[in-house]
Amino acid sequence: MVWGIRNRLAQLIQKDGRVLFLPIDHGYFQGPTHKLEKPGETIKPLLPYADAIMLTRGILRTCVDPISKKPIILRVSGGSSVVGDDLSNEDQITSIREIIRLNASAVSMSIFIGSKYEHQTLINLAKLVDECEDYGIPVMAVTAVGRELEKRKARFLALCCRIAAEIGARVVKTYYCPENFHKVVEGCPVPIVIAGGPRVDSEIEVFNFIYDALQNGAIGVNLGRNVWQSQYPVAMIRSLRALIHENYTPKEAHNLFNKNKTVKD
Ligand code: R5P
Repeated sequence: MVWGIRNRLAQLIQKDGRVLFLPIDHGYFQGPTHKLEKPGETIKPLLPYADAIMLTRGILRTCVDPISKKPIILRVSGGSSVVGDDLSNEDQITSIREIIRLNASAVSMSIFIGSKYEHQTLINLAKLVDECEDYGIPVMAVTAVGRELEKRKARFLALCCRIAAEIGARVVKTYYCPENFHKVVEGCPVPIVIAGGPRVDSEIEVFNFIYDALQNGAIGVNLGRNVWQSQYPVAMIRSLRALIHENYTPKEAHNLFNKNKTVKD
């Protein structure tokens, strides 16, 4: 692996081999998402606990201090919206020059396997990998399902992750599934991180599924709504850190959450 890729991956993947990415890119297709209306304010108390943040160039420029040393995963695909015809109709929306100018540690792009625009999004990924590898920038592929959340099953996710890795993604972001998640990981030759999806009912549910994903080989999370839409976002991200980087059990993480939620953020 070339030096630049290794160096940037080392900024993201911690010495213990684990990651806690904080995504705030949701506005790129759904506008001012609940609790992300002012992204700069949302992330301020959370940044110290995240290993990296994932966002678009517009939010990076307007909401993140350029002297911040927090590694950036730049979301570079887009071109559709929740009110448009088809969420899968994406292209690359940020040039390689801009990616370099913004000093991204990695970039992320969605692929929509099984959708009308499957071919287009896979070719987009291939072109992005070619461009980014020239400059030592790792690509994280996002196995998107659009509105079809029911697609999040092991067989489908394994297919998506493997294809993303075959095309050259250095990291793949996918969803957790309760059955056979290990098969998703085993079929993918590059590290897998999981997204959270829409906010779930209880914190312990989040800690349980992340713990299970880690036990089955995921290297960490790219978790957004279940952090910053929580009533206690700082307590939430601190417990996630303990779960991911300090090998807490879900019960221990939950106890820590209950303790920290009494602390004023
Ligand atoms: C989708 O909007 C983005 O790619 C998010 O970064 C991804 O879905 C992770 O965020 P969440 O945990 O909110 O699903």
